[in-house]
Amino acid sequence: MTSCGTIANATALWCARSRLFPPAPEAPNVEHDGLKAVLDHHDCERAVILASNLAHYSVEKAAGRLGLGASNLLRVPVDARQRLELPALRKLVAHCHKRRWRIVAIVAVAGTTDCGSIDPLAAVAEIAAGEGVHYHVDAAWGGGLLFSEKHRSKLEGIECADSITLDAHKQLHMPIGLSLVLLRDPATARAMEIEANYMLRDDSGDLGRVSMEGSRPGMALFLHAALEIFGRSGTRSWWTVVSSACRPVRPK
Ligand SMILES: Cc1ncc(COP(=O)(O)O)c(C=O)c1O
Repeated sequence: MTSCGTIANATALWCARSRLFPPAPEAPNVEHDGLKAVLDHHDCERAVILASNLAHYSVEKAAGRLGLGASNLLRVPVDARQRLELPALRKLVAHCHKRRWRIVAIVAVAGTTDCGSIDPLAAVAEIAAGEGVHYHVDAAWGGGLLFSEKHRSKLEGIECADSITLDAHKQLHMPIGLSLVLLRDPATARAMEIEANYMLRDDSGDLGRVSMEGSRPGMALFLHAALEIFGRSGTRSWWTVVSSACRPVRPK
């Protein structure tokens, strides 16, 4: 759990950065020695993140905070339906290879902030898998569609993601401050684990060990309670009501 989608995205990309440069004996460690030491060691000039022009600005913030630099977030144009353009993504990936730039992650958006468009998640997954690159889906806004019988197919391909951001305080109607970052392999987060002497036991449940935040409110209880009380069918019925009241916005 994180306290917002911004931190969920940053955490996912933090994991992606650690996956790309995993700790190894005799090699510099990105957490300890910093990015420059690691890039020098791998003899590469840049480590980049690829995302569409409509990816939320929290992805740019993450690129800065993770030491990659905001200029290393490379933007992919969108098509007429405001979805990431696949040929442009393929071209950019090839360009990165040619220049020997390392790709930290390819980010697709499931519900852009500007207009709700959903990137072609399955096709982007295929490109990321073909390249062996971490695939992050920012479903902060659109992830709630998974609870809709009618609309969940719009998120086909999300199941291939290595990490997913979901804001329960958006389409799941929870109070502000309730976000999730889901990791295909939770062990990825171990790469950035830090311990302190005051943690008495190896199995002490201190989430601060593998997260950006330390102390935080127990917001998970709200989501747990809502899902317990309404269940899948209650949440589904709610979606049916909402989606029947909505109309797609068409450009004038
Ligand atoms: C697609 C998307 N990602 C991330 C965020 C950031 O979420 P938060 O405001 O919870 O930090 C937003 C917020 O609008 C968003 O729409």
